[in-house]
Amino acid sequence: MVMSTASKGLEGVVAAETELSFIDGVKGVLEYVGIEIDDLARNSTFEEVVFLLWNKRLPSQGELNSFTSELRGQYEISDTVLSRIKDLPTSAQPMHALRTMISYLALEDSDPNSTKPEEVQRKALGILAKAPAIVAAFDRHRRGEKFIPPDTSLSFAANFLKMLNGKAPTETMERAFDVCMILHADHGLNASTFTARVIISTLSDIYSTMTGAIGALRGPLHGGANEGVMVMLNEISSVAAAEDYVMGKMTRKEKIMGFGHRVYKAYDPRATYLKTLAEQLAKDTGNSDLYEKSHAVEQVMEREVAAKGIYPNVDFYSATTYHCIGLELDLFTPMFALSRISGWAGHGLEQLEANRLIRPTAEYTGPHGVAYVPIGQR
Ligand SMILES: CC(C)(COP(=O)(O)OP(=O)(O)OC[C@H]1O[C@@H](n2cnc3c(N)ncnc32)[C@H](O)[C@@H]1OP(=O)(O)O)[C@@H](O)C(=O)NCCC(=O)NCCS
Repeated sequence: MVMSTASKGLEGVVAAETELSFIDGVKGVLEYVGIEIDDLARNSTFEEVVFLLWNKRLPSQGELNSFTSELRGQYEISDTVLSRIKDLPTSAQPMHALRTMISYLALEDSDPNSTKPEEVQRKALGILAKAPAIVAAFDRHRRGEKFIPPDTSLSFAANFLKMLNGKAPTETMERAFDVCMILHADHGLNASTFTARVIISTLSDIYSTMTGAIGALRGPLHGGANEGVMVMLNEISSVAAAEDYVMGKMTRKEKIMGFGHRVYKAYDPRATYLKTLAEQLAKDTGNSDLYEKSHAVEQVMEREVAAKGIYPNVDFYSATTYHCIGLELDLFTPMFALSRISGWAGHGLEQLEANRLIRPTAEYTGPHGVAYVPIGQR
């Protein structure tokens, strides 16, 4: 069956079946395997959510314990990976460093290409477990600081923050970061997840799948928007300046990063949760000004474009949240990636369960019957 016209940006095209996440863009609902995101953010942990996405059910306590210990057993990166990270230019952007090093992990796997589901899941676990060490090692390398080895007594969230900062986070910071990981884990057929499914549908390997997905994520229209939000907040000199700043951008027809969504025409439920988290963390860390600036931007946007269905998305308040957790601006998108690796893997496994090569058709809009002109006559 061939549809005769292209849908720009594939809007409205149903390109896969999934049991992983459900989005109702009109009501502003997101569920992972049927469980509301708010319920998971309040009651679950990132490790449990990863199990949920990879097994399509919640684990028993015993299953969660063994899954967590398998994950922790893979936290460490090899000396070779560490030394390749130290070879990277300190001027490199962390997303490029992460993409490069995830690709490099394939070189240390004696059988990188296996598409057997249990093998893919085992490799995905290794990638997910090692990605925090890669980001932290690169960040410390560019700051001229020594690598802090992973701590297998810590959760995914606490281990990352300890490797980054040299000391274990407070319980509040660990929980805040863990919640961010939960909220970013999966989101239907977003651009990077679609990329992941396309790559694995060719029966290519999980390392290529992750590498391609990271590349798609870093664009400013996708995961890169959280860094764009922070750039914008830094450009707004005060809460009072937010109105003119936003209106200036609107007049110039420039987009406000962290607003709008292809699917949500209502408030993104992840943004609802992050807004509350950002407000609390900002209070706790003396960053209330930043939160107030964000809120002022939101109020102008609400007045101007909410009627068009444009609301804050996941990236808007995650910028304030990450800043309050103490992360450098260009680590924001890698944080999204650390979490979304779980969703990409879940979709990769789901794609392999009933694989068919993803190969859509293009609507040809060029000329026909054009005669070839020899180069000397052009
Ligand atoms: C997410 C996004 C790419 C969705 O894009 P899309 O579904 O292709 O929608 P469009 O870019 O075609 O936008 C539709 C309309 O809304 C407007 N719009 C969308 N997002 C906007 C934003 N962030 N700021 C201002 N206007 C926006 C567009 O200008 C367009 O208006 P028009 O119909 O008058 O021309 C888009 O909203 C965007 O660029 N947002 C900013 C980047 C961002 O935060 N990305 C993270 C997404 S989770």
